[in-house]
Amino acid sequence: MASKPKLLAFAGSLRKESVNKKLVQVAAKGAEQAGAEVTFIDLVDYPLPILNQDDEQANGAPENAKKLHQLFAESDGFLLASPEYNGGLSAALKNLIDWLSRPSSGEPALASFQGKVVSLMSASPGGLGGIRALPNVRFILDGLGCITLPKQLALSKAYEAFDDQGGLVNNVHQETALKLGRNVVEMVKKLKD
Ligand SMILES: Cc1cc2nc3c(=O)[nH]c(=O)nc-3n(C[C@H](O)[C@H](O)[C@H](O)COP(=O)(O)O)c2cc1C
Repeated sequence: MASKPKLLAFAGSLRKESVNKKLVQVAAKGAEQAGAEVTFIDLVDYPLPILNQDDEQANGAPENAKKLHQLFAESDGFLLASPEYNGGLSAALKNLIDWLSRPSSGEPALASFQGKVVSLMSASPGGLGGIRALPNVRFILDGLGCITLPKQLALSKAYEAFDDQGGLVNNVHQETALKLGRNVVEMVKKLKD
C-alpha cells in the first residue's frame, strides 16, 4: 500500500497517571515500528457531556464530538486500552462511543467505526488486569462494524508494571503489547493491498 496506515491510540481513562494510557502507548510504539502513523489522543483533552438526545436535537453535536468524529473517520484502526470499572467499561469510554455512533454531517453512518481494525487491551492494579471489561468493549465495537482482532492483553498489577521510560518491566508483557500494535498494522495492510 502506498500510504502509511493511520491509527489512533487512546485509553478509556481521564486519569493523569492512567496505566491504560501508558499501556496503549507501548502498543503505539509497536505499530510505529511496523510502519504506521499513530496519533495518541488523551480523552481529557476532548471533554464531552453525557449524551442527552434532547440536547443533541436542540444544539447538535458538541465541537469535541465533531473533532473526534473526524479523527476516527480518517483512521484505519485503533489501539484501545480500556479500564475496568465494576466489571465493565468506563463511563468516559462508553460516552465517547455513544457520541461517535451518532450521525455526523457529510459522513456515512458509523464512519468512525465501520471497517476499523482494533487491538484491545486493559490494565488494572488488580489481579485480573481488567479482563472483564474487554468482552464488553469487543461486543460493542463489533456491533458498530469494527474488526476487533482476537489477540488482547489484560495487564494485572499495573501500578508496578512500568519502568521510568514507560516500558513494561516484564519482557513478555512488553513484547505482547508491541505485538498488539503490529497486529493492527499488518491487518490494515492486508485489507488495503
Ligand atoms: C468506579 C471504579 C470502579 C472500578 N472497578 C474495578 C473493577 O471492576 N476491576 C478492576 O480491576 N479495577 C477496578 N477499578 C480500579 C481501576 O482498575 C483503577 O482505578 C485503574 O487505575 C483505572 O485505570 P487507569 O489507571 O487507566 O485510569 C475501579 C475504579 C473505579 C474508579
